[in-house]
Amino acid sequence: MLEDYKGICYETNPQVYEPSEDTFLFADNIEVERMSRVLEIGTGVGIIAIMVARRARMVIATDINPYALECAVKNIISNKSFNIELREGDLFEPVTNEKFDLILFNTPYLPSSSEEKVNDELNAAWDGGVNGREVIDRFLADVKDYLNPCGRVQMVQSSLSNINKTLKKLEELGFKASVTAKEKHFFEEVVIITAYT
Ligand SMILES: C[S@@+](CC[C@H](N)C(=O)[O-])C[C@H]1O[C@@H](n2cnc3c(N)ncnc32)[C@H](O)[C@@H]1O
Repeated sequence: MLEDYKGICYETNPQVYEPSEDTFLFADNIEVERMSRVLEIGTGVGIIAIMVARRARMVIATDINPYALECAVKNIISNKSFNIELREGDLFEPVTNEKFDLILFNTPYLPSSSEEKVNDELNAAWDGGVNGREVIDRFLADVKDYLNPCGRVQMVQSSLSNINKTLKKLEELGFKASVTAKEKHFFEEVVIITAYT
């Protein structure tokens, strides 16, 4: 079935994260400099990358889930976003030695025990390990190496996975970091964190 968000038509796939409130909060709060070079990690069906590609010079969109890339390529073609390049892989592995002006990631941020894991590719969309920070901490450890001078990071996180810890880590890395948007949900608060070098 085709969905629509602010003029972007997209299809979904049962094995790919379906754009939800966190996606739309992110889409509405990303600041893209005209002609910038952008990396989106974990693109899912691709709607963030498609939205950002309207302003950016070039977007590299990655995902660890091969079904996400299959779905995203269809959406990229149907939205004629020909300045997006898709790559499969874990975090920064598909962009080794490259630099970006803006790095985006709607992270898998839910704390989950081994019993809660689902045995398919969709698990990667939400599974943040026991404290919800497994992927977030790996992302933070390397993100600075992939930014141009004056580059920015914007990421999505939940109150369930310790927002203050992320802000502190970013400050330790030399970023000015803050929560730039938030939305309360039934059992959590979802925030957008923006960090400047
Ligand atoms: C919460 S979903 C967000 C999807 C999409 N960006 C959106 O906002 O709707 C997280 C995405 O990150 C991907 N992902 C999880 N861990 C990853 C990793 N280590 N490297 C690359 N992508 C990852 C998942 O497969 C999933 O598509």
